[in-house]
Amino acid sequence: MKKARLYIDKHMIVSRVDKRIYGSFIEHLGRAVYEGIYQPGQKTADEQGFRRDVMDLVRELGVPVVRYPGGNFVSGYNWQDGVGPRERRPEKLELAWQVVETNQFGLNEFADWCKKADTSVMMAVNLGTRGVDEARSIVEYCNVKDGGYYSSLRKRHGYEDPHNVKLWCLGNEMDGPWQIGHKTAEEYGRLASEAGRAMKWVDPDIELVACGSASLDMPTFGAWEDTVLSECYDEADYLSLHTYYGNRDNNTPDFLANTVAMDQFISSVVSICDAVKAKKRKTKTINLSFDEWNVWYHSNEQDKKIPRWSKAPHQLEDIYNFEDALLVAGMMITLLRHADRVKIACLAQLVNVIAPIMTSDSGAWRQTIFYPFQLISRYGRGTVLHTVAEVPVYESSHGDAPYLDSVCLMDEEQETLTIFAVNKDLEESMEISLDVRQFEGYQVKEHIVLRHDDLKAVNTEADPDQVVPRAGSVVAGASAKADGGVLTAVLPDKSFHVIRLGKA
Ligand code: AHR
Repeated sequence: MKKARLYIDKHMIVSRVDKRIYGSFIEHLGRAVYEGIYQPGQKTADEQGFRRDVMDLVRELGVPVVRYPGGNFVSGYNWQDGVGPRERRPEKLELAWQVVETNQFGLNEFADWCKKADTSVMMAVNLGTRGVDEARSIVEYCNVKDGGYYSSLRKRHGYEDPHNVKLWCLGNEMDGPWQIGHKTAEEYGRLASEAGRAMKWVDPDIELVACGSASLDMPTFGAWEDTVLSECYDEADYLSLHTYYGNRDNNTPDFLANTVAMDQFISSVVSICDAVKAKKRKTKTINLSFDEWNVWYHSNEQDKKIPRWSKAPHQLEDIYNFEDALLVAGMMITLLRHADRVKIACLAQLVNVIAPIMTSDSGAWRQTIFYPFQLISRYGRGTVLHTVAEVPVYESSHGDAPYLDSVCLMDEEQETLTIFAVNKDLEESMEISLDVRQFEGYQVKEHIVLRHDDLKAVNTEADPDQVVPRAGSVVAGASAKADGGVLTAVLPDKSFHVIRLGKA
């Protein structure tokens, strides 16, 4: 059995968790909107056509903010096509995903859906084919109570009160040559600055996310962030990061080691933000919005066969397995470890499209990745503590990777200490120990484990409970107890753990 020692100190705080780190994403893509959150006539659909079965699962997942409407989609989108009487909304060719967009669902429906699903809107504006004018008019439509053409238009569309959208993305992945209206860093930085200024003139209370690189692998990574922020430092509040990982070579240790790459990615972007801050002699700090992250690769081949100009095809429908759930847990732990700078993050996406929730016409079910997200979103509240781990490592293409991903959080009001941990060893258990003498009288109150013998096990509509969390007491080889001020836990091979301590 491998051994690891964790060290924490209740005064060594990373940050309070911003709950928006548990955000997600709905793009007009595949069946995310149509047949996902919206399907008039479906047996659980409400009077607005919103699927209640999906909404229940979204609430269960605990998602405080949802990014919309894209993604690549937003760079060719005309938001006016999706508002007003449905019979007058045009069908359009959607170039990003080569499909037809019917516009039967638009921003007003999304704002309504968010209210019903107990979440809030993070809206992206089109800086691909459109620009400053579009950006300021959509803010007026959404946020201005009285006065002006677009706020009156909203009222004529039946929305007397503004939607009050407070978080906005200045375009999407504008460094990517696949993006409609792709731009150089200089072009985008200038546009983001001018659009951002106009948007904040309409509503000074909004917060803005500027586009960072589409991934760490982009050839312009680093220079892009530097140039963009140099142009729009005053208008931006956050810089975005995106990443997707895949186990294409079927090398699970290397796949799970992607948390090392993610950690380095975040640290690098923090450094660049702070370098621009120093160069500009600013007092304001730019924080990070990791607004697309997930596993994405299972559906790549299948998607090549989709006929062009289909409507709501089965697109990007990754079926997630158990090892994907382990990596998702590790990625969330990595985000939490950077909670001082990562204030927003969006699991991409929410329903049907690379998603924790899947639907058919008859029902909705939870993919494997649903569970780590749900558990960490539910229990990962309070304050993140610096968690130092003495742990064995293995070689990976990302450098030395620890066998354990872990983070501790305390919630002084609730009097809880929570440990999230993934044992990435595929063969051996790991015993972890943690000195908890600062948390006098705390005992293990709950130990939840996600584990399966088969790394490739999946949940399907017919068999939805293959990979589900269980109490540690019924998982062979798992244990957790606090004794004499020391927490000792045994984490079986390939497993994710939530260990919650509190006053007895
Ligand atoms: O989430 C799927 C796509 O991935 C998004 O549209 C795009 O922003 C990213 O490349």
